Amino acid sequence: MEKTFSFTYQSLVLDDLPKADGDLCRMALQTTHGSYAPYSQFEVGAALRLSNGETVTGANQENASYPCGTCAERTALNYARTVWPDVNIEAIAVAAMQQDTVTGTPPYPCGLCRQSLAEVEHRQGTPIRVMLVAADEVLVFSSAECLLPLAFHSTDGHF
Ligand code: THU
Repeated sequence: MEKTFSFTYQSLVLDDLPKADGDLCRMALQTTHGSYAPYSQFEVGAALRLSNGETVTGANQENASYPCGTCAERTALNYARTVWPDVNIEAIAVAAMQQDTVTGTPPYPCGLCRQSLAEVEHRQGTPIRVMLVAADEVLVFSSAECLLPLAFHSTDGHF
């Protein structure tokens, strides 16, 4: 038997997004200024919109011992879980700057961040809209699961 996984995503310009989504993307761009990235010079900002109306942000924080560094997405996710453990995340916007310029390519999240997003989405039971901001477009994914098909979930009976 052959099985297929496919998904559809959108490419929009920032000003054509619904206001709440556009604002979240602008917040992600602003949050790049909170990055500490002396090693990669790649400054990433993430902004989460929570179902209680709050916005939570995070930026990548690097370390001379490289694996210690944390991506913007997980900085924000961990902060949200710490402060509002029972509040669902509706959307995440991610943006990146290099040499004070918004990147031409969207900041595709790394595998660790995809796994983290997938677990939060699975746990809360509602989709997380993912918006990846580039200089001339915003990619919009209706669910974090699109970014990590067949994600590992301990609650699926693996243990
Ligand atoms: N980074 C993020 O913060 N998020 C991403 O989606 C991709 C990569 C960070 C990790 C590291 O600090 C720098 O960007 C370069 O890889």
